[in-house]
This record gives sequence, structure tokens and C-alpha cells, in this order.
Amino acid sequence: MAKKMLEVNQLTTKYITRQGEDVYSVDHVSLDIEEGKSLGIAGESGCGKSTLALSLMGYYFAPLHYTSGTIKVDGKDITGLDPDVVRKTVLGTDVAYIPQAAMNALNPTRKVGKFIEDVIFAHELPMDKKQIREMAEQRFAKLGLPVDALDKHSVELSGGMRQRVVIAVSTILNPKVLIADEPSSALDVTSQKMVIKMMKDMMAEGMVKSMIFITHELPLLYNVTDDIMVMYAGQIVERGSAKEMVFDPIHPYSRGLMRSILVPEEGTRDVKLPARRPT
Ligand SMILES: Nc1ncnc2c1ncn2[C@@H]1O[C@H](COP(=O)(O)OP(=O)(O)OP(=O)(O)O)[C@@H](O)[C@H]1O
Ligand SMILES: [Mg+2]
Repeated sequence: MAKKMLEVNQLTTKYITRQGEDVYSVDHVSLDIEEGKSLGIAGESGCGKSTLALSLMGYYFAPLHYTSGTIKVDGKDITGLDPDVVRKTVLGTDVAYIPQAAMNALNPTRKVGKFIEDVIFAHELPMDKKQIREMAEQRFAKLGLPVDALDKHSVELSGGMRQRVVIAVSTILNPKVLIADEPSSALDVTSQKMVIKMMKDMMAEGMVKSMIFITHELPLLYNVTDDIMVMYAGQIVERGSAKEMVFDPIHPYSRGLMRSILVPEEGTRDVKLPARRPT
């Protein structure tokens, strides 16, 4: 049996509002992903996708709080670790996270190459600046990114390029799980295609060992992920293979989500759905 890269059991997390109310945005979520596999998470705005992504890193800061459940990455239990330990030993290596609107996440005052140095130094890895530069150049070349982007500030890059650079930087330490929150949603169609191709290449090349791809566009996942989970009000309502979920959703909410999104707008989506149901 393939090795499990991520095993999440009954994870529950909540926001505590200023009024002191508990908002359970991740409600008893269980999921697992095997090595080499990708999982899509879809659901309407506000259903808890981004909160789930944050919660899966085991890195909590107010107003988000851990309540119960466990998270294991490649067999290692990361639940309840001290945030400092998570930052140094989990983020970037076990779990890499690309936040929603990540293209604005690069530090505007640092050149991309310097930013990569910061990432490596934060992990206290035994590499000098020359070795880091070589590694970054190799990785950029392999991912089809211009090497001279390393000498630029993020504002000098186009939105699509910035997004691909953020993804390349976040995965430079070959994480076991990559969590990408709406990585292509804010981009034009051409840039979307490039981002998705790059993420698939990273999986194929083993630069990331498993992937979670979050989007509100369920059909997009058909061409990107092995499995799809649908989330509603903090809970997982259904999980299946990408084909099952797109062509044969069982839960009424998944069906509704498919129907609501599958209004074909010519040329606006990178979704090559077959005209008929595949056999
Ligand atoms: N800081 C907060 N305090 C209280 N509730 C919050 C806070 N942040 C988010 N929430 C609530 O948690 C729920 C889930 O939000 P989340 O951002 O995870 O949704 P999402 O599925 O990622 O939405 P989108 O598709 O718009 O990105 C929402 O109902 C939201 O109102
Ligand atoms: Mg979100």
C-alpha cells in the first residue's frame, strides 16, 4: 500500500470572535493523501477552505484556535507542537503553504533571490549563499522560470510570474505536502494554465510529494487532482475520484455546486470536460 503523506483525523478548529463567540470553521474534518497524489478541495465562499488550509499546518494564531483532532505528516504527529517548532521544523519541509492571494506575499523590499536566502536561513540549513544561489537557479530553470527573476524585486514581475515565483520559492525545500489555496483564481487564463502546468510538473518530478489544491471552481480540479472533496459549512460532505465528483456527484450539495458552476462561458476556463460522460 502506498505511503500516506498526510493523515488528518477529526480535526476541529474555531475562531473566537471579539464578542467571545466560537465559530467552528473546520468541523471534524478527516482526510488522507497518499504519496504522489493530489486532492482538490472545493466549496462555496466562506465554507472554510482557507481555514482548513491554515489548520492543516498545525500553526495557529489568534483568532484561530485548535480544538481537537490529529494531523500526521508522513507518520509524524504535528498536532499541538509549539508554534516556534512548527515554524522551524514543519513549515516548508513537511508542509508548504501557498496562501490565497500569495502573489502579494513576497517581501517587496527584498530581491527574490535574497528572499530564498531568508527562507533557507530561517530553517537553519547548512548552506552558504553560493550554494543557495545555485540551488535556486537550478530549480527556476527546471520549472521554466527565468533565472534573472532571482535578481528582481517582486514588483518588477507580472502577476502570473509573481505567482509562479511564490510557488517555486515555497516548495524549494521539497515539502511532503503542498497546500495551495486558490493558486490560480486571481490570474488571467494564460497565467492560470502556466501555474497549473508548473504544479503538475512539480508533482511529476517529486519536488512535492503530495498536494492539496483549494478552489471554489470544482470543474477546474478535474484536470488537476486525483481526488476531490467538497466542503460545506466547515464539514466534508463528499469525497471521490475527480471523475466521480465531476460526473457523478452523489451528495445534493455537490450536485448543486457542479450545476451552479458548469455554466460554460466560452474561453473563460481552462477546463477540458468531455462533451459526453466518459465510460
Ligand atoms: N477572523 C475570523 N473570525 C471569525 N470568523 C472568521 C474569521 N475568518 C474567517 N471566519 C469565518 O470562517 C468561515 C470560513 O472562512 P474561510 O475564509 O475559511 O472560507 P473560504 O472557504 O476560504 O472562503 P473563500 O472561498 O471566500 O476564500 C467563514 O464563515 C468566515 O466568516
Ligand atoms: Mg479562502
